[in-house]
Amino acid sequence: MPRRTLNKIFSFLSVDMAIDLGTANSLVYVKDRGIIINEPSVVAVNNKTGQILAIGEEAKKMVGKTPSYISATRPLVNGVISDFEVTEQMLKYFIEKAAASAKKIFGIANMPRVIIGIPCGVTEVERKAVRDAAKNAGARTVFLIEEPLASAIGAKLAIQDAGGNFIVDIGGGTTEVAVISLGGIVAFRSLRIAGDKLNDDIIQFAQKEYKLLIGERTAELIKINIGSAMPLKEKNEMAMRGRNLVTGLPEEVVIFNDDVQRALDRSVKQIIAAIKVTIEETPPELLADVMTNGIYLAGGGSLLRGLDVLISKETKMPCKIIDDPLTSVVRGAGIALENIETLAEVMSKDEEGEAYT
Ligand SMILES: Nc1ncnc2c1ncn2[C@@H]1O[C@H](COP(=O)(O)OP(=O)(O)OP(=O)(O)O)[C@@H](O)[C@H]1O
Ligand SMILES: [Mg+2]
Repeated sequence: MPRRTLNKIFSFLSVDMAIDLGTANSLVYVKDRGIIINEPSVVAVNNKTGQILAIGEEAKKMVGKTPSYISATRPLVNGVISDFEVTEQMLKYFIEKAAASAKKIFGIANMPRVIIGIPCGVTEVERKAVRDAAKNAGARTVFLIEEPLASAIGAKLAIQDAGGNFIVDIGGGTTEVAVISLGGIVAFRSLRIAGDKLNDDIIQFAQKEYKLLIGERTAELIKINIGSAMPLKEKNEMAMRGRNLVTGLPEEVVIFNDDVQRALDRSVKQIIAAIKVTIEETPPELLADVMTNGIYLAGGGSLLRGLDVLISKETKMPCKIIDDPLTSVVRGAGIALENIETLAEVMSKDEEGEAYT
């Protein structure tokens, strides 16, 4: 039977899905159903037996609270796979859950076609790891798409046009700055400073200023509730609980928003520096469009209070957070998969002839 016909039969039987395998959150999108999975990229493993105890939301609750023989780990670091086997298990869980909820029985004929977002500029080895993990997890065909491109598609930007689109995705592990034109990325920067680093800045601050050891989740809550990219008029405070490093005893200290802003300042400036460098590297013909359309922000990190205003001030360009910035990659990847035949023209095929980036 010709390959085309065979593919048609397979697509009829199978469920196509898009996956955003993020450092902080993983999402799965299924055509006609929307986003059906949105969970933290955390896996709890029993170190004694190697057995997986929980994945996603349930595992995140265990972070920092587990007994010593259980580790709640994040299998992705800075957007790339750091623990292959655990990532594979996590993907398997997501793919099976998605297929089950789409009411398709999992079998040889209906193994899904999967598209996965990957950061810009990852190595061939890192790409292969994602592809292999997805195949081992039950995918029939795997396509890869660079995350800023997916985000731009998700934000309904006119990426196929000759004009320039400037997009900055600030996730958990990486910040990706990309200029897109004619469906491709013409300039990009990827830096390993994003949401996680901001949490770490707060942990370091508490340690230095108050000799207080706080957990990652506490730091994240402080960032989300009272953190900001620039000084604010309003005054906010939050109680943070941790362990005093000198006495070893539990302690509660009040932290103010000005302190949090100062703690985050260095990392925020590094993100802005990367944006400025990418602007300098943008081909002049595209700059005019970028100046008119402005900078689009995506990813959870873009929600840091005042970040859009600061970027706009520093670059002298309009800056806008796209709608629903945490889901743009998976939504865009889903649209790309639905239009893979037309989009394939602007995406390069790999040697196996089945993965596009
Ligand atoms: N309101 C908010 N203010 C500041 N930061 C936020 C807010 N909401 C979410 N975040 C941060 O956004 C980050 C997660 O964003 P996102 O889900 O886009 O990352 P990811 O896609 O998993 O990571 P990556 O793209 O780097 O692999 C976390 O660091 C989280 O703390
Ligand atoms: Mg992301």
